[in-house]
Amino acid sequence: MENNQSKKTFYITTPIYYVNDVPHIGHAYTTIAADVMARYKKLSGYDVLFSTGTDEHGQKIASSAEKVNLTPLELADKVVLKFKNLWPLLNIEYDDFIRTTEPRHIKVVQEIFNKLYENGDIYKGEYEGWYCVPCETFWTETQLTDETCPTCGKKIEKIKEESYFFKMSKYQDRILSYFEKNPQCIQPKARRNEIINFVKGGLKDQSVTRTKKSLKWGIDVPFDDNHVIYVWYDALLNYITVAGYNIDNKKFEKYWPADIHLVGKDILRFHTVIWFTMLMAAGIEPPRMVFAHGWWTIEGEKMSKSKGNVVDPYEMAEEFGADAFRYFLMREVSFGQDGNFSKDLMIKRINYDLANDLGNLVSRTVAMITQYFNKEIPKAGMEKEKYDVELEDFAVKTIKKYYNQMKNLSLNAALETIWQFIRRTNKYIDQTEPWILGRDNSQKERLSTILYNLAESIRISTILIYPFMPVKAKEIWEQLGLETGLEKIRFDEDASWGKLKPGISVKPGKIVFPRIDTKKKEQKEVKEAQEDKANIISYDEFKKIDLRVGKVVSAEEVMGTDKLLKLEVTLGKEKRTIVAGVRKHYSAEEILGKKIVVVTNLQPVKLRGIESQGMLLAAVDKDNVVLLTIDKDITEGSKIQ
Ligand code: ME8
Ligand code: MG
Repeated sequence: MENNQSKKTFYITTPIYYVNDVPHIGHAYTTIAADVMARYKKLSGYDVLFSTGTDEHGQKIASSAEKVNLTPLELADKVVLKFKNLWPLLNIEYDDFIRTTEPRHIKVVQEIFNKLYENGDIYKGEYEGWYCVPCETFWTETQLTDETCPTCGKKIEKIKEESYFFKMSKYQDRILSYFEKNPQCIQPKARRNEIINFVKGGLKDQSVTRTKKSLKWGIDVPFDDNHVIYVWYDALLNYITVAGYNIDNKKFEKYWPADIHLVGKDILRFHTVIWFTMLMAAGIEPPRMVFAHGWWTIEGEKMSKSKGNVVDPYEMAEEFGADAFRYFLMREVSFGQDGNFSKDLMIKRINYDLANDLGNLVSRTVAMITQYFNKEIPKAGMEKEKYDVELEDFAVKTIKKYYNQMKNLSLNAALETIWQFIRRTNKYIDQTEPWILGRDNSQKERLSTILYNLAESIRISTILIYPFMPVKAKEIWEQLGLETGLEKIRFDEDASWGKLKPGISVKPGKIVFPRIDTKKKEQKEVKEAQEDKANIISYDEFKKIDLRVGKVVSAEEVMGTDKLLKLEVTLGKEKRTIVAGVRKHYSAEEILGKKIVVVTNLQPVKLRGIESQGMLLAAVDKDNVVLLTIDKDITEGSKIQ
């Protein structure tokens, strides 16, 4: 057990996500990883603060909102729900969700801004340079090769306006020596070197405001009505708002400095260079560690809306189950490295690791305890055989290795460690052949030992798995008949060999990880594709339908029903009687004189004794019915094609 911090608190954060877009696999990845760490630390006995949230100011949100005719706050109010509703579906349990539009945050941002202005670290000047809206990043001429953003490749804009600046240059030496003295504070190591080299290249003062002429959507500069605060300067401060800076000093002292800011590699520079210097200027201790994980591509390609390959975490949770999705993301790539997502790979992991290795182990063990011991977990005998000793030994080593890997955020390696143990346990079944012993009553004691050892191995694996797959771990836990809630487990008390109490009854339940039948899945997909095809009609078929512009020249209610209107419609030379079921939506007066779309070559039908010689076209959405009318005037009877 690690216990190297005097105060046993653990504060972990995710980035706060922009609300211009709905959550995707990338957001899910960071937040799941943070949840895994938060749960791990809770089981290690830490008092944990785990925060996530949304970044709601800035030009990117303002222009997205404008495009859909909403105010930025209206857009934020909508999109924030997509995040808030997603996290519980992915079994994520955060302690705080911060929105940068909340008063508690605005207060902190303005206080810090004032403080830095008063101590001379923020001054007024003029900014002339470039800005990338998608990245919300200022770029100087020297950092560019053309008019595109070095990070995202999109077109950048030129800005020339009055601006406040933060004296970042002043902190260059201090921050360099801080990074060198605290090597753990930027992880992984390779990325630390990049940051150090960047700082060595020279820090310029950072523009930290925009004029209201160019952008209104931001936190006001407290002492100057003409400016709003640059969105990154606002956003980074969320981490101290959550910890209670100047709001709840006790809380702040307890949790700050943050233990881990978990971010993607795209925003590491903001979280180190800008963030650390801001904190230094404000006299606040920097975070203990910023960890930048890698980037997901989708089937080998960059994820983008225009490519249409954005992976929706709602769909993943629905199709594969939240915990299996969590498992895949955490297991597939070495934490810190880039990764490639594909459904095929995920299905393989689910079938091999989850259904085969773990799922079978659980169901076989529970079934044997049910069959041979009437569900009661038996006692291990006094005598240990070679295989027993090996298994127990493996368990002890597994636990130790797991702690080390978790401590270093080697999340995929920790899972690999657990699975080595699970496979070792399966091998133990093959070595000891309990099903053969089960046929022989004189072997009951030996069988007891074996089944106890199996149940104990599963119990330990389940504890270690819990941070990754909390809901599935609970299902396994319950099948073992264990009562204490898993979330109340403490590694130091419970994760050691022999803690399982014999005598409790297993509860055989449903299969924890059903296999995904890829054949069936493929057949289903092919069938769906064929059905889609069957819905396609040829142009010739379409041409058979005669659609014409008609004008309603008389309209009356059909007696004895509240649904129907009897219409006389002219189609130029010709006049038709049409009975239309639109009375709930259109009165006779309302429909009179309208130019509408008529299907003229439909088999006539009799409705309430009246022959209807055609049909009107209407858009139908549940209870709402709206007639198709003609955009501009045109003679009656014109053909629609
Ligand atoms: O940058 N692979 O918000 P954002 C892995 N508001 N992770 C990915 C990913 C991918 N393909 N795509 C996104 C912002 N992410 C700012 C942050 S914090 C004070 C302000 C994850 O909505 C990853 O964590 O663009 C990345 O850093 C983050 O989403 C960016 O989210
Ligand atoms: Mg981004």
